[in-house]
Amino acid sequence: MAACIEIHGISKTYRNGKQLIEALKPIDLTIQQGEIFGLLGPNGAGKTTLIKLMLGIIAPTSGECSILGEKIGSLKAKTLIGYLPENHRFPLYLSGQQMLEFYGNLGGLSGKTLGKRIDEVLEFVNMSEWRKLKIQRYSKGMMQRIGLAQALLNHPKLLFLDEPTDGIDPVGRKEIRGILEIVKNEGTTIFVNSHLLSEVELITDRVAIMRKGVVVKAGNTQELTQTQGVHVITLSGGTPPNGVQGMLNYNAQTREVEIEAANPNALNTSIDALRAAGCFIETIVPKRSSLEEIFIELMQESQELLRPESK
Ligand SMILES: Nc1ncnc2c1ncn2[C@@H]1O[C@H](COP(=O)(O)OP(=O)(O)O)[C@@H](O)[C@H]1O
Ligand SMILES: [Mg+2]
Repeated sequence: MAACIEIHGISKTYRNGKQLIEALKPIDLTIQQGEIFGLLGPNGAGKTTLIKLMLGIIAPTSGECSILGEKIGSLKAKTLIGYLPENHRFPLYLSGQQMLEFYGNLGGLSGKTLGKRIDEVLEFVNMSEWRKLKIQRYSKGMMQRIGLAQALLNHPKLLFLDEPTDGIDPVGRKEIRGILEIVKNEGTTIFVNSHLLSEVELITDRVAIMRKGVVVKAGNTQELTQTQGVHVITLSGGTPPNGVQGMLNYNAQTREVEIEAANPNALNTSIDALRAAGCFIETIVPKRSSLEEIFIELMQESQELLRPESK
């Protein structure tokens, strides 16, 4: 797979009067074409700063970054991207349709081409019905959907979403996930910032976890959330005997046995022992920990690293 975003040693220090705020320490990251990449981290970690750097809204203190081979900040790079800002404020006195006309014009679209594209994106985010309604009357979920329509107007190759589901109810979040799945399937790369971990877990292919301007972990979402070598076996009958190889525990209520096995052979030995003891196996799945558990662990670890040494 080819790279969509290549970040080399990019950093950002803000100056606030005499105070220097190191929002991003030098970061290296590559985002592949066609993936949904999640940047996670608590408030103030530097997520929005990184998006703004990639958009060319702010200049980096050091480092380089390119989008599909184009230097960030260049006009060419800007034509490739769509952006849904955090806490966006579209003019409330405009209708959804008028807002899209305004932003479409800014992006160089006009006339019939723009009209047709507006019809398409409104339909796509399920907002055609409310196109004439003023934005001030939209719910938070509708606000985000019209925002997505705006971000998709120019057929972006790369979509930046900053906290797209913050403050939205579960039904609205599911709708947005559905929209993003389709966008991804059409080949668009999606870069999403979020502090909502369970949400991100559902949609991303890869994630980077950030804290105080540093990426503390990055990887495949599936791999990160998979506990190495532990399987959960659910029984529909029988009780596991003592001494099954690798058995970590058995929950009689859920009928789940946790087995630690270094390889498939070892796992099969444990399964044979269960079956020999009259257990009937319903399902076997690799055990996963949630992204939230991993996140909390990481935050605690890096807290310890940052703690001054005691004498
Ligand atoms: N324009 C700015 N001027 C000074 N400091 C800023 C500015 N924007 C962000 N910061 C600071 O940079 C750090 C990272 O902020 P931000 O990128 O918004 O984090 P996140 O999006 O992860 O919540 C924070 O300490 C924030 O206060
Ligand atoms: Mg932010």
